[in-house]
Amino acid sequence: MNTSLVPDTETVTLLIDADWWRQATVYQVYPRSFADANGDGIGDLRGIISRVPYLRRLGVDAVWLSPFYPSALADGGYDVDDYRDVDPKIGTLAEFDEMVTALHGAGIRIIVDIVPNHSSDRHAWFQEALAAPAGSAARDRYIFRDGTGENGELPPADWQSIFGGPAWTRVPDGQWYLHLFTKEQPDFNWDNEEVREDFRTTLRFWSDRGVDGFRVDVAHGLAKDLTEPLPSMSTLMDLTGPGENPLFDRDEVHDIYADWRRIFDEYTPPRIAVAEAWTRTADRRMRYASPEGLGQAFNFDLLQADFAAAPFRTIITENLALAEASGSSTTWVLSNHDVQRHPTRYGLTDADGSADSGIMQVASKAWLLAGAPEDELDRARGLRRARAATLLELALPGSAYLYQGEELGLHEVTEIPDEDRQDPAFFRNKGVEIGRDGCRVPLPWTHAGPSFGFGDGGAHLPQPAWFADFSVEAEDADPTSTLNLYREALRLRHELQTDESLEWIETGRDDVLHLRRPNGWESVTNFGTDPVALPPGRIVLASGPVAGDLPGETTIWIAPGGDEGGAA
Ligand code: NOJ
Ligand code: CA
Repeated sequence: MNTSLVPDTETVTLLIDADWWRQATVYQVYPRSFADANGDGIGDLRGIISRVPYLRRLGVDAVWLSPFYPSALADGGYDVDDYRDVDPKIGTLAEFDEMVTALHGAGIRIIVDIVPNHSSDRHAWFQEALAAPAGSAARDRYIFRDGTGENGELPPADWQSIFGGPAWTRVPDGQWYLHLFTKEQPDFNWDNEEVREDFRTTLRFWSDRGVDGFRVDVAHGLAKDLTEPLPSMSTLMDLTGPGENPLFDRDEVHDIYADWRRIFDEYTPPRIAVAEAWTRTADRRMRYASPEGLGQAFNFDLLQADFAAAPFRTIITENLALAEASGSSTTWVLSNHDVQRHPTRYGLTDADGSADSGIMQVASKAWLLAGAPEDELDRARGLRRARAATLLELALPGSAYLYQGEELGLHEVTEIPDEDRQDPAFFRNKGVEIGRDGCRVPLPWTHAGPSFGFGDGGAHLPQPAWFADFSVEAEDADPTSTLNLYREALRLRHELQTDESLEWIETGRDDVLHLRRPNGWESVTNFGTDPVALPPGRIVLASGPVAGDLPGETTIWIAPGGDEGGAA
């Protein structure tokens, strides 16, 4: 008997639980910056395979892999040349299969990023479109239009791309194509049946290879109303105003996802999907999370909130209610590959010298643009608050999406010289956007050695000296490290996540949030700086030192079945 055909117990468990995603901890791997097995400076699939034991020990339920497809990296891989292959710079399809087997063998599921709004300009279809005449079937897969002005020398509309610069680029025969992001990312025409069919093929291609689900990039952008005359820029980007937007969050987009749902449900367990959807209101976001659609949607509300009790409580209460009404579970995100890492956001002082003001995001952007002066960042405080926020996040019903390196408490890397930067947002929008490279610097695995153990060679973005103290090796040995806090939290979270609700316990302090899950687990966060008396109960985890009372900017977890107060 060929024993390799007999699935191990971990893989069998993965096959039978269709609801696994509802309260999962999902760990985002940005593959080119995770681990580099062949020492060429770029993270690769073999590197991920080598770190499966690390992910298992960390205790995550699933990995979400950012794009790993062939790409010229005009936008970090979100410019895809071929949706059904692996970038030869980072691996092969055979290695992909090996990675899926290794993850599944460790009881970890895998979600891949799918980028349906646009391909790259190197995609075979776009190359075909360039070679084909105006009005051809090849051009109809993208969004080509004639220009305006006397000789068509002006773009079809005055639209700006999301990374800055015009959203239309002219091709040699005089037509223009639409790209909401960089000019290397032409937008697909989702009214074209060939485009729809090709994505069905892609979804089946990866599902057949054992992928458990998909993270859907720019999910709100696929359906567009391009009826002439095209509207002006001033009405275009307004996602918050009343009325329909021609480019984003149109009702028709849900027909596409209803179609995808039929494909997901062909599999056992059904494949899952999570939408990156920016919408006018939170309830419109939940339409993407409908069980008849993608099933789940990112909730970025905490990521955009100040570290303060009132906004956290409102956001948590609202999103749990929305999730219940939609039939989905909610999601939580504090960091990802598009934003400044949360210890840095929480450690910044704003122009008034207070870190509690409502302009944290703005302060953080301005601070980076000003060259990130160190005296405006309190690193220790930022990390203290980040650990407290994370522990609260992990006590909430729903799934938590973690970003690689947050388990090490990494700060944003600010010391990247202009000439080393890679993010198109930096180049296309100079002086306005610093870009996202600072959260994409290759991870430190060891406290010394080439690229801090990322690989045997260098790292494709420069790593700062302070990475040594935040390396996996350094933190592994320190029981109070952020890494060991995450490990313990993720272990306990499996006991804590038995239902999808919570009740608030009033504390009499407007800077303290105390929640209880129906199974008796409690989480208490002191957002303020004044200590508060410890509630009764058995403290099993704390985001920082606790003795006698609950210090400021600290979260504790209380397990059911014990009433002694005291330190963990
Ligand atoms: C959202 C992704 O998260 C981001 O990294 C990317 O640049 C844009 N979509 C465009 O694909
Ligand atoms: Ca490599």
